[in-house]
Amino acid sequence: MTGPGASSVAARSTRPLIVVSNREPYLHTYGPDGRLRWSKTPGGVSVALDALMRERGGTWIAHGAGPADRDVVDRHDRLRVPPDGPRYRLRRLWLTEEEERRYYGGFANEGLWPLCHVVHVRPIFRAKDWAFYQRVNARFAETIDEELPAVRTPVFIQDYHLALVAAELRRRRPEVRMALFWHIPWPHADRLRICPWRRDLLRGLLANDLLAFQVERDRRNFVQAAREELGAAVQGGLVELGGHFTRVTAVPIGVDYDRILAFATDEALKAEMDRLRRELQITTPIIGVGVDRLDYTKGIPERLDAIDQLLADRPDLRGKVTFVQVGVPSRSRIASYRNIEAVIDRKVADINARHRTAEGHEPIRYRKSALKLRRLVALFSLADFCIVSSLHDGMNLVAKEFVAARQDLDGVLVLSELAGAAQELTDALIINPYDVEGFARALSRAVDMPPAERRTRMRALQKTVAGSDVFRWASEILADLEEHGAVSYPGTARSRAATGPDLR
Ligand code: G6P
Repeated sequence: MTGPGASSVAARSTRPLIVVSNREPYLHTYGPDGRLRWSKTPGGVSVALDALMRERGGTWIAHGAGPADRDVVDRHDRLRVPPDGPRYRLRRLWLTEEEERRYYGGFANEGLWPLCHVVHVRPIFRAKDWAFYQRVNARFAETIDEELPAVRTPVFIQDYHLALVAAELRRRRPEVRMALFWHIPWPHADRLRICPWRRDLLRGLLANDLLAFQVERDRRNFVQAAREELGAAVQGGLVELGGHFTRVTAVPIGVDYDRILAFATDEALKAEMDRLRRELQITTPIIGVGVDRLDYTKGIPERLDAIDQLLADRPDLRGKVTFVQVGVPSRSRIASYRNIEAVIDRKVADINARHRTAEGHEPIRYRKSALKLRRLVALFSLADFCIVSSLHDGMNLVAKEFVAARQDLDGVLVLSELAGAAQELTDALIINPYDVEGFARALSRAVDMPPAERRTRMRALQKTVAGSDVFRWASEILADLEEHGAVSYPGTARSRAATGPDLR
């Protein structure tokens, strides 16, 4: 380890883990030639957790969603991953088409996702989806029970798909130590009331020993809801319900800094950058980038409007700026996602038509596909500025990945104040995506920013991102779980009566 992120390595624990998430880290398919292929799930969260599992070992339990997934597991539905250098075990859980549609597409993504993000998309709650959500959560708990070697192995559950898992597992294995990280925002108690099953969700989550959110605001919202909806007792960081104590904290997630640093300082980077520049046919002196899942929370239309406004305000930039938008198709079976894709397609075409120069230069390059980390680092390295313009976001790891990639201390991060990342990355140019004029002015400032200021800002950003990488995040959560789990379950050797609660 040579990078600044190495400071956190000392704090890493080596105990194997059980990680549980809906999305699997590796997926198997068949290529057009009929040959078996595997791919790594793109996206910051998956990449970050995979890094953690490579380091600690153990078992990752997730939905097997790949078309060839069943053909590569053993008779216990397990396989060793990464496929090209095994470090831990993946246990796949199978869902029927209806289970996937109702638990994942319906309750999690048409209900909880818009409930938790303030983006003016109406949450849809159907009783049948809820029934499937309960059923699938119970199946995850059953699978953990099968995989759990000993109660001392910590179980680390991820996100809004699995809010009820802890309660179900607790019934089967009362002494298991469990933590859940809620990767997305937690809504204010007023908004949470939209959900008919909010009390069940709160109860399910409070069966964990530790519950962690991205930022303090989410933690506060959760604690307020627990108090108002369930009458839970709150003291310091502990929430008590029916004699069970849950520590509720805020721990912002980070990136695998050292891995990104390795790509950013690799001598092959330059060649990769040249290749990308050629492929994307970029000839302009100024380059901007945006990399997102095609999700209505990401503020992509708002960003395109700001670029449109910038080009209208600054005719001198016409033919001089190329903005590369990488959009990874996501949850496309859901109408709101198909709509946002169509809105973006139309806007890109419209802006390119209106700002096309006599020489035929169009300002926006739009690529609908995921990029491998190596290519992503090269794309970030090409950029004079990177835009993250979420309308609401738990954290947004693209912002942190961009910073980690810029070992040359150049490039400007333009960041929405409505993303969790803005709480930490205060040296970015902070924008509000609802204010198109202000957003365009910030882009103009990014384009004109003197090199010395770019350097100062990037150095400060890098210090923050390197200082709290994904390993630091995980060890903070897991150390907290291991240290304080002792007071969390009543009626056992680890009960409150036996040890007394720590009500800090
Ligand atoms: C967000 C969620 C993750 C999810 C990811 C990709 O980051 O917090 O839990 O895995 O989006 O979404 P998908 O629906 O493709 O898993």
